[in-house]
Amino acid sequence: AVERTLSIVKPDAVGKNVIGKIYDRFESNGLQIVAAKMVRLSEEVAGGFYAEHKERPFFPALIEFMTSGPVCVQVLEGEGAIAKNRELMGATNPQEADAGTIRADFAESIDANAVHGSDSPASAEREIAYFFAASDICER
Ligand code: CMP
Repeated sequence: AVERTLSIVKPDAVGKNVIGKIYDRFESNGLQIVAAKMVRLSEEVAGGFYAEHKERPFFPALIEFMTSGPVCVQVLEGEGAIAKNRELMGATNPQEADAGTIRADFAESIDANAVHGSDSPASAEREIAYFFAASDICER
Protein backbone atom coordinates (compact mmCIF):
# COMPACT_ATOMS: atom_id res chain seq x y z
CA ALA A 1 0.00 0.00 0.00
CA VAL A 2 1.06 3.59 -0.53
CA GLU A 3 2.16 4.95 2.85
CA ARG A 4 3.58 8.14 4.32
CA THR A 5 6.43 8.27 6.83
CA LEU A 6 8.19 11.01 8.77
CA SER A 7 11.88 11.50 8.05
CA ILE A 8 14.40 13.81 9.72
CA VAL A 9 17.85 14.69 8.40
CA LYS A 10 19.64 15.24 11.71
CA PRO A 11 22.05 18.07 12.68
CA ASP A 12 25.18 16.01 11.87
CA ALA A 13 24.09 15.40 8.27
CA VAL A 14 22.86 18.99 7.78
CA GLY A 15 26.25 20.17 9.14
CA LYS A 16 28.10 17.91 6.69
CA ASN A 17 26.13 19.46 3.80
CA VAL A 18 24.70 16.14 2.62
CA ILE A 19 20.97 17.00 2.67
CA GLY A 20 20.79 16.61 -1.10
CA LYS A 21 22.69 13.32 -1.12
CA ILE A 22 20.25 11.93 1.45
CA TYR A 23 17.20 13.26 -0.44
CA ASP A 24 18.61 11.53 -3.53
CA ARG A 25 18.51 8.17 -1.70
CA PHE A 26 14.78 8.70 -1.14
CA GLU A 27 14.00 9.92 -4.65
CA SER A 28 16.12 7.24 -6.36
CA ASN A 29 14.34 4.50 -4.44
CA GLY A 30 10.69 5.19 -5.12
CA LEU A 31 9.92 7.68 -2.36
CA GLN A 32 8.55 11.16 -3.05
CA ILE A 33 8.94 14.16 -0.74
CA VAL A 34 5.41 15.51 -0.19
CA ALA A 35 6.22 18.02 2.60
CA ALA A 36 9.53 19.46 3.83
CA LYS A 37 10.96 22.14 6.12
CA MET A 38 14.23 23.10 7.80
CA VAL A 39 13.91 23.96 11.50
CA ARG A 40 16.00 24.42 14.61
CA LEU A 41 14.24 22.29 17.23
CA SER A 42 13.71 23.70 20.72
CA GLU A 43 14.19 21.42 23.75
CA GLU A 44 10.41 21.33 24.14
CA VAL A 45 9.75 20.29 20.54
CA ALA A 46 12.56 17.70 20.50
CA GLY A 47 11.47 16.33 23.90
CA GLY A 48 7.86 16.01 22.77
CA PHE A 49 8.87 14.27 19.58
CA TYR A 50 11.00 11.71 21.45
CA ALA A 51 8.63 11.44 24.46
CA GLU A 52 8.62 7.63 24.27
CA HIS A 53 12.37 7.67 25.10
CA LYS A 54 12.03 10.00 28.11
CA GLU A 55 13.15 7.38 30.66
CA ARG A 56 16.01 5.98 28.57
CA PRO A 57 19.58 6.78 29.69
CA PHE A 58 20.42 8.29 26.29
CA PHE A 59 17.50 10.79 26.37
CA PRO A 60 19.46 13.87 27.59
CA ALA A 61 22.19 13.33 24.98
CA LEU A 62 19.55 12.74 22.30
CA ILE A 63 17.84 16.05 23.05
CA GLU A 64 21.14 17.92 23.28
CA PHE A 65 22.17 16.56 19.90
CA MET A 66 18.83 17.12 18.15
CA THR A 67 18.81 20.77 19.27
CA SER A 68 22.50 21.38 18.39
CA GLY A 69 21.76 22.64 14.85
CA PRO A 70 19.06 22.77 12.19
CA VAL A 71 17.32 19.66 10.91
CA CYS A 72 15.31 18.93 7.77
CA VAL A 73 11.94 17.33 8.43
CA GLN A 74 10.08 15.71 5.56
CA VAL A 75 7.15 13.47 4.78
CA LEU A 76 8.03 10.66 2.36
CA GLU A 77 5.33 8.93 0.34
CA GLY A 78 5.46 5.69 -1.60
CA GLU A 79 4.70 2.00 -1.73
CA GLY A 80 5.63 0.57 1.68
CA ALA A 81 7.28 3.89 2.56
CA ILE A 82 7.77 3.13 6.27
CA ALA A 83 9.77 -0.09 5.77
CA LYS A 84 11.44 1.23 2.61
CA ASN A 85 12.78 4.28 4.45
CA ARG A 86 14.06 2.10 7.31
CA GLU A 87 15.80 -0.15 4.80
CA LEU A 88 17.44 2.87 3.14
CA MET A 89 18.54 4.28 6.53
CA GLY A 90 20.16 1.06 7.83
CA ALA A 91 20.59 0.06 11.48
CA THR A 92 20.32 2.71 14.24
CA ASN A 93 23.98 2.14 15.09
CA PRO A 94 25.98 3.03 11.96
CA GLN A 95 28.60 0.44 12.96
CA GLU A 96 25.90 -2.20 12.39
CA ALA A 97 24.36 -0.63 9.28
CA ASP A 98 24.56 -2.55 5.99
CA ALA A 99 26.92 -1.20 3.33
CA GLY A 100 25.27 1.31 1.04
CA THR A 101 22.71 2.50 3.58
CA ILE A 102 22.42 6.18 4.57
CA ARG A 103 23.79 5.56 8.07
CA ALA A 104 26.71 3.44 6.82
CA ASP A 105 27.64 6.16 4.34
CA PHE A 106 26.96 9.38 6.30
CA ALA A 107 26.74 8.65 10.05
CA GLU A 108 29.41 8.56 12.74
CA SER A 109 27.79 7.20 15.90
CA ILE A 110 24.52 5.96 17.40
CA ASP A 111 23.81 9.53 18.55
CA ALA A 112 24.93 11.33 15.41
CA ASN A 113 23.26 8.86 13.07
CA ALA A 114 22.25 11.19 10.20
CA VAL A 115 18.54 10.36 9.92
CA HIS A 116 15.38 9.43 11.77
CA GLY A 117 12.47 7.49 10.29
CA SER A 118 9.12 6.40 11.71
CA ASP A 119 9.16 2.75 12.82
CA SER A 120 5.47 1.82 12.39
CA PRO A 121 2.21 3.08 10.85
CA ALA A 122 1.10 4.36 14.28
CA SER A 123 4.33 6.30 14.88
CA ALA A 124 4.29 7.63 11.30
CA GLU A 125 0.81 9.04 11.86
CA ARG A 126 1.81 10.64 15.18
CA GLU A 127 5.15 11.96 13.93
CA ILE A 128 3.75 13.45 10.70
CA ALA A 129 0.99 15.23 12.67
CA TYR A 130 3.62 16.45 15.17
CA PHE A 131 5.41 18.47 12.49
CA PHE A 132 2.86 19.10 9.72
CA ALA A 133 -0.74 20.18 9.34
CA ALA A 134 -2.74 18.12 6.84
CA SER A 135 -2.76 21.19 4.56
CA ASP A 136 1.09 21.21 4.50
CA ILE A 137 1.17 17.87 2.67
CA CYS A 138 1.19 18.20 -1.09
CA GLU A 139 -0.69 15.89 -3.45
CA ARG A 140 1.65 14.74 -6.23
P1 CMP B 1 16.15 7.69 16.24
O1 CMP B 1 15.63 6.74 15.21
O2 CMP B 1 16.08 9.13 15.90
O3 CMP B 1 15.37 7.43 17.62
C1 CMP B 1 15.95 7.69 18.87
C2 CMP B 1 17.42 7.99 18.77
O4 CMP B 1 18.14 7.85 19.98
C3 CMP B 1 18.08 7.02 17.82
O5 CMP B 1 17.68 7.32 16.51
C4 CMP B 1 19.55 7.22 18.17
O6 CMP B 1 20.13 8.29 17.42
C5 CMP B 1 19.52 7.65 19.63
N1 CMP B 1 20.11 6.65 20.51
C6 CMP B 1 21.19 6.81 21.29
N2 CMP B 1 21.46 5.70 21.99
C7 CMP B 1 20.52 4.78 21.63
C8 CMP B 1 20.26 3.43 22.01
N3 CMP B 1 21.04 2.78 22.89
N4 CMP B 1 19.22 2.79 21.44
C9 CMP B 1 18.41 3.43 20.57
N5 CMP B 1 18.60 4.72 20.18
C10 CMP B 1 19.65 5.39 20.69
